[in-house]
Amino acid sequence: PRLLIIDTDPGVDDAMAILMAANSPEVQLLGITTVYGNVPTALATQNALRLLEMAGLCGGVMVAQGAARSLKAGTDVERIADFVHGADGFGDVGLPPPRGSHAADVSAAEFLVRSVNAHPGRVTILALAPLTNIAQALMLDPDLGDKWAELVILGGAFFTGGNVNPAAEANIFGDPDAADLVLGCTPRLRVLGLDVTQRCRMTAEELQAMRGVGKYGSFVYDISQFYLNFHRKWYDMDALYLHDPTAMAAVLRPDLFEWRAGAVRVACEGVTKGQTVMDASVRGFHGHNGWADRPQVQVALGVQQQQVVQLIRER
Ligand code: BDR
Ligand code: CA
Repeated sequence: PRLLIIDTDPGVDDAMAILMAANSPEVQLLGITTVYGNVPTALATQNALRLLEMAGLCGGVMVAQGAARSLKAGTDVERIADFVHGADGFGDVGLPPPRGSHAADVSAAEFLVRSVNAHPGRVTILALAPLTNIAQALMLDPDLGDKWAELVILGGAFFTGGNVNPAAEANIFGDPDAADLVLGCTPRLRVLGLDVTQRCRMTAEELQAMRGVGKYGSFVYDISQFYLNFHRKWYDMDALYLHDPTAMAAVLRPDLFEWRAGAVRVACEGVTKGQTVMDASVRGFHGHNGWADRPQVQVALGVQQQQVVQLIRER
């Protein structure tokens, strides 16, 4: 199996992605690193521990707590999406705290650096939240991007609108400076954003059908009701977006997506703060106006959504 580390802010759709990984023999989960986003970082850690306990993985899989603030936060408080995922990140269904497992005595960034260096070329990192931990890992070890097998990022909105402002997707908006740094570090990187994840949906009816099915069907059903209600109110649809599990599907089955190579930059301030811009021009702007030496990364612009949604439901 491929070695996998998930960097995450669980979060309803993060939980789906993590449980998918636990159910996928193609990957061996090495660890979970946590960060703010859907919930504050300390709660993300608690939620990661809860999920691993539920999956019976808490012995072998480390949890390493990461940054509580974005790189340039200053005194700003991070934006927390409790109105999307509930104050507890799991739809406020009243889950008990973890039964006794604890986070490791190492920071997320150090854990990433150590793990990738211990298994050069073998570790895939799946990033499902603001990219602060990954950026900090690259500051500790600037060559890290040449040593991981691949970094798969759930983030961005390339040729479609955003979900936190008209231009930006939430994970990139959460730490645009970190995102611009990470997207500039290596070509060994895939990024998929709202262009494809908003095409991968689960209807309320399909969610209902998961109840009582398999190991995690009822749990996923329960924690998803708050998230589903947010989609009903905000998007006026009786379905939810499968953002993070779609990224997990891209780890398992990249062939179900259409990838295009190009340089990407992130707007770090102003009214489009967090916007991801892909250079899709014919000749490329290499060497011009802040686009010099940017690596060509793989950006998902198409998806076979029925097959992806089916894979998510199966796992
Ligand atoms: C992303 O933001 C978070 O709310 C979700 O968990 C997902 O990672 C979608 O924009
Ligand atoms: Ca997430």
